[in-house]
Amino acid sequence: MPSAAFGIDLGTGNIKIYNNADGMIMREKNMIAIMNKKELFAYGDAAFEMFEKAPGNIKISYPLSFGVIADIKNMQTVLRCFINELTHNKNSGADYYIAVPTDVTEVEKRAFYDLVSDANVKAKKIMVVEKAIADGLGLNIDVKTSQGVMIVNIGFETTEISILSLGGIVLSKLIKVGGRKFDEAIRGAIRKEYNLVIGEKTAEKVKVSLNELSEEDVDAVVYGRDIVTGLPVERKIPTDLVDMCLSELVENIVDSIKVILERTPPELSADIYRHGIFLTGGSAHMHNLDLHISRGTNLKVNLAEDSIDSVANGLARVIKDDNFRSVAYAIEGMSR
Ligand SMILES: Nc1ncnc2c1ncn2[C@@H]1O[C@H](COP(=O)(O)OP(=O)(O)OP(=O)(O)O)[C@@H](O)[C@H]1O
Ligand SMILES: [Mg+2]
Repeated sequence: MPSAAFGIDLGTGNIKIYNNADGMIMREKNMIAIMNKKELFAYGDAAFEMFEKAPGNIKISYPLSFGVIADIKNMQTVLRCFINELTHNKNSGADYYIAVPTDVTEVEKRAFYDLVSDANVKAKKIMVVEKAIADGLGLNIDVKTSQGVMIVNIGFETTEISILSLGGIVLSKLIKVGGRKFDEAIRGAIRKEYNLVIGEKTAEKVKVSLNELSEEDVDAVVYGRDIVTGLPVERKIPTDLVDMCLSELVENIVDSIKVILERTPPELSADIYRHGIFLTGGSAHMHNLDLHISRGTNLKVNLAEDSIDSVANGLARVIKDDNFRSVAYAIEGMSR
């Protein structure tokens, strides 16, 4: 049996855990529901299910904010619950590989380490891996020998733009744009154009179905509350309107990518030109996003297939393949 090890990608929206015991990646919402201020009521997908529907005494929240840990206690609880689930409450000790963003403070980075060490999950060893490196491995790029690789990971609350070369990170920028902002833009536009209030979940559904709706050339159908009458109604929303309201955010992302490209050393730029940009993260598949990035940068865009799990897939390779172990490191002074 392989040794017990977990690879953890703590996303602001989704937590992904690679479990070496069965070689599977578990993915659930990174959410917690607390009742009467102290009692754990639900976590993960079950907490998300109640989101926007629960009574006032149940508080549902995301323990991460813009890619960093905002609520350590709740994050520990969620992590412990999932590890207990994955080990059927028989956790007798394991190694943990946790992915961390690069463009954050040392304190914020260390918080990922502390989270695992203090979560009561029987950590034998805790190693960290930069998210962009894990992404590269997850996308089957040979990060140790490749030069000039640009990876753009668009998630729930963040977009991480990184340049990798020879197993290291040359440049990395984390910006506060992601799927959640897209959902907010959709809500705002529908409210303005149709006097209709819709929930976050409904906006997300519209966004995720855009590819299919555009292909079939049909409108999105949404349910919400009419601002004027206060009554629940159904409305048809043209996909053009949705695309239009997202364009400003897409431009933000394209501009940030250009800034990083401008700062990239010229020898690496040549390699990036040859390889194109690698686009990943859950939001990578948003309608026409790859097209806009390609047009805005004049570069080829390689859209990752399994984009939502690319970091976790990379962690799996670090755990399984000794050749890649060197990309993981212990936080100085804290190795076990
Ligand atoms: N087909 C799709 N089209 C558009 N967006 C999608 C699609 N599938 C998933 N998403 C979006 O992907 C986002 C979640 O992606 P992901 O799990 O990579 O984020 P995260 O890692 O939790 O967040 P972050 O990296 O910002 O901390 C959500 O906003 C979701 O709506
Ligand atoms: Mg992510």
